[in-house]
Amino acid sequence: MQNIAYFAQYLEKEIENLDFPLTPKNLYDPLRYFMNLGGKRMRPMLTLMSTELFGSTKENALPAALAVEIFHNFSLIHDDLMDNAPLRRNQPTVHTKWNDHIAILSGDVLLIKAYQELCKLDASVLPEILNVFNKTAVEVCEGQQMDMDFEILNDVSSSDYIEMIRLKTSVLLACAIEMGGIIAKTTSENRRLIYEFGQHLGIAFQIQDDFLDVYGDAGKFGKQVGGDILSDKKTFLLLRAFELANETQKQHFISLRTNEVAEDKIKQTKQLYDDLNIVLETKKAMDIHYEIALKALDEVQVDESKKKVLRDLAAYLLVREV
Ligand code: IPE
Ligand code: IPE
Ligand code: MG
Ligand code: MG
Ligand code: MG
Repeated sequence: MQNIAYFAQYLEKEIENLDFPLTPKNLYDPLRYFMNLGGKRMRPMLTLMSTELFGSTKENALPAALAVEIFHNFSLIHDDLMDNAPLRRNQPTVHTKWNDHIAILSGDVLLIKAYQELCKLDASVLPEILNVFNKTAVEVCEGQQMDMDFEILNDVSSSDYIEMIRLKTSVLLACAIEMGGIIAKTTSENRRLIYEFGQHLGIAFQIQDDFLDVYGDAGKFGKQVGGDILSDKKTFLLLRAFELANETQKQHFISLRTNEVAEDKIKQTKQLYDDLNIVLETKKAMDIHYEIALKALDEVQVDESKKKVLRDLAAYLLVREV
C-alpha cells in the first residue's frame, strides 16, 4: 500500500523537472522562485491518490496533478498581492521581492502553464477535466472577490463566510480530487462522493488556516501572523467571536476596526478571541466538516484498504502548523 511520502517524493521530482525558460528573466525567475519555495503540495497529491484509489496510475494523472499545483501557485502569487502579504513559505512574496506588475504577469504565465499541462492528458478525459477545471477556476475568482468585498462589510453571516471559503479554497481541493475520478473513469456517484470529501476537507482546512493566521507559530506557518486581522478579513474567528461577544466586547471589536497601530490591533483582537474561547470554537467547526468529509469517503465504493492514504493525508492536513 502506498503512503503519503511515496506520492510526495514522486511529485517533488516532477515539479523540479518543470522546465521554465531563462528569459525574460523578470518573467520566469519569479515563478521559478515561487514554485520552488516548496509548500505542502496537497492538491496534486489528492489528484494522484484519487486516481490510484479508482484504479488508474499516478503517471496517467501527472499532467492534471501538475496543473492543479501550478494553478494554486498562480492563485497564491495574485492572492499575496491582493492581501498585501509580505511573506509566503517563510520567504518574501513575489510582489515584495520584485514588484506588483511582475507578480501579475508571472502569475498569469503560471495560469497558462497549468492549461499547457492539462493538454497532455488523454483526449478521452480532457473535455470532462476542462469542464471541472474551468468551473473551479471561475469559482476561485468569485471566492476571492467575496473575500475582498467582505473586508468592508459588517453584516457577513456565517453562511456567507462558508460560501466564500468554499469558493476561494475548497472547490480547488475538490476539483483536484475529482480529476482523479475522471482520469480513472469511475462512476458518477463515486465522483460526487469524492468531490464532497474534498469540499468539506477544504472547508475545514481554510477554517484552520484562519486559525493559524492568529495562533500559528510565525517560523513554522511561514506567513505573516496577524495578517488577516490587519486587513479586516472576515475570518471564522472574527465572525464567531462577534456572535459570542457581549455588548462591551462588541464595542471593543468595532473600535479595533479603526485602530491603525498594527501591534495593538493584533494583540487586542487576540485577547478578545482568548476571552471568548475561540480556539475551542474553531476546533469544533473544523471537526464538523472533517466528519462530513470522512463520511463521504466512507461511502465511496472501492475497497476500504485503498482509502487509507487519503484518510492519512486528511488527518495530516488538519493538524498542520504550516
Ligand atoms: C494556502 O494553501 C492557501 C489556502 C487555501 C489557505 P496551502 O496551505 O496549501 O499552501 P502551500 O502550497 O502549502 O504553501
Ligand atoms: C487563500 O486564502 C485563497 C486563495 C489563494 C485562492 P488566504 O488569503 O487565506 O490564503 P493565505 O493565508 O494567504 O495562504
Ligand atoms: Mg492571502
Ligand atoms: Mg486571500
Ligand atoms: Mg489565510
